[in-house]
Amino acid sequence: MNAPLNQPNVSFREMQIDDLDAVIQIETVNFPFPWTAGNFKDSINSGHICLVLEIDELMIGYAILMMVLDEAHLLNISISADWKGKGWGRHLLNHMMQISREQGGLNMFLEVRPSNVSAITLYESIGFNEMGVRPGYYPAHNGRENAVLMGVAL
Ligand SMILES: CC(C)(COP(=O)(O)OP(=O)(O)OC[C@H]1O[C@@H](n2cnc3c(N)ncnc32)[C@H](O)[C@@H]1OP(=O)(O)O)[C@@H](O)C(=O)NCCC(=O)NCCS
Repeated sequence: MNAPLNQPNVSFREMQIDDLDAVIQIETVNFPFPWTAGNFKDSINSGHICLVLEIDELMIGYAILMMVLDEAHLLNISISADWKGKGWGRHLLNHMMQISREQGGLNMFLEVRPSNVSAITLYESIGFNEMGVRPGYYPAHNGRENAVLMGVAL
């Protein structure tokens, strides 16, 4: 489903430290091993591109992007549970890809759990391909889980 892009008051803005309570609420629902507020603060302070997606000033998602020369690394992308499945994740990812291009990015990379079918389906539908596997990359309740490394030309 396409996000209703003609909907008024849809905006992206930079994540602020004051946003972190709301960010953490979404993060802890969405991930079994969520980022901490400290992880987000580190990203903001490191100069990563940290954006929130808002509708009528309600935060419904966020993404964290690290640029390394012409490589864009998507470190986090997340849509609030109430807003999933309505096209907003695709909208946010497309926006992060556009920002990456504007910053001189030639390729975007990300890691994803092989069990994260909805995310992998989204990435593949946008053109990401599997580039490799990072064994035991993620913590898991029964040990460690591999990461699939995916990439797309920008
Ligand atoms: C992954 C995530 C960002 C996708 O956002 P979303 O707003 O739910 O996704 P969209 O509605 O934009 O859907 C885009 C595409 O993703 C895929 N998708 C979304 N939900 C899916 C599901 N439950 N099952 C299979 N595919 C799914 C589909 O290809 C969909 O395209 P379509 O609607 O044309 O079929 C969101 O589910 C999320 O925040 N998940 C938890 C956090 C997370 O796992 N982040 C990624 C870490 S690598």
